[in-house]
Amino acid sequence: MENTDLESLKTSALNAIAKASTMDEITLVRNEYLAKKSPLMALLGKMKDLDPSERAEYGARVNSAKGEISNALDAKVKILEAKELRAKLESEKIDLTLPGTSEEQGARNPFYVVKDEITEIFLGMGYEVAEGPEVESDHFNFELLNIPKDHPARDMQDSFYIDDNTLLRTHTSPVQARTMQAKKGQPIKVICPGKVYRRDDDDATHSHQFAQIEGLLIDKDVNLGHLKATLELFVKKMYGEKRQIRLRSSYFPFTEPSVEVDVSCAECGGKGCSVCKGTGWIEILGGGMVHPNVLTMSGYDPKVYQGFAFGIGIERVAMLRYGIEDIRRIYQNDLRFLDQFKKR
Ligand code: DAH
Repeated sequence: MENTDLESLKTSALNAIAKASTMDEITLVRNEYLAKKSPLMALLGKMKDLDPSERAEYGARVNSAKGEISNALDAKVKILEAKELRAKLESEKIDLTLPGTSEEQGARNPFYVVKDEITEIFLGMGYEVAEGPEVESDHFNFELLNIPKDHPARDMQDSFYIDDNTLLRTHTSPVQARTMQAKKGQPIKVICPGKVYRRDDDDATHSHQFAQIEGLLIDKDVNLGHLKATLELFVKKMYGEKRQIRLRSSYFPFTEPSVEVDVSCAECGGKGCSVCKGTGWIEILGGGMVHPNVLTMSGYDPKVYQGFAFGIGIERVAMLRYGIEDIRRIYQNDLRFLDQFKKR
């Protein structure tokens, strides 16, 4: 074979490689010069026609040209890859100094903040959450809670009646009776958060709809000390370690004895101020030992089982916590009010 054939083939291959500016073009060049049917391979094929003494030298020359072309191709591939990467990085460049677009964050209504906090505290003490219907029967809302027809306690909870025996529940206490009936004599440890309704005129401290969290614990050997310790723990977690509670004797038809629970005023530390109306104490909830009649009516033997119950007004807790003076603010969804609870 003529040396010039091989040299000119190599030169045209190296030129083509130098000119190629994309990966596709490189692939075409590789196919043209190094594929099985390429002129270079044809030159190799001619080896068998040569005199054996010439073969070794001829083969070495063709292979060296092939190696040169192949190396040039690989080198060009590397250059093109680097070029492509640079172009990609260039096109995806981010200017970190540009001002960002910030999303306006809303705020949680303080009602839900407090409701979740109270719930979490009791879940932490091993309570479960129980629920009941808001449209309730007279039987569960009153009768099973030891408030028979004509009982004067009904007057304090005038309600929205759907018919003579159906009403919007006036408190979460009917969930006590519902839970007792569902648990069929087994120990109970539940809280029941939910909406309640009363036919009240709305003003700064009253609303026809508000929310409570009921608590009910039933087991053997339960006494008032357990209720006090439970509420003390709740108050310290909710209002801080320094807060104290005091139990005052009260009356609810479904508990005996009944208590009203006060917490020492966080504002003045008990000295007396406008928040606690000069008394040093703020009333936060009602509770007591479950009345034997209530236990009996829902299937528990009061000689074997005792229990305590309590009811917390959620809005009231939120109002005290945040110094909200009008309960209606909580319901109105006015951003000027809600924005004050944004996390900063
Ligand atoms: N149900 C009562 C109310 O709405 C609150 C209450 C008081 C619930 C004492 C209780 C309790 O469970 O033991 O006024």
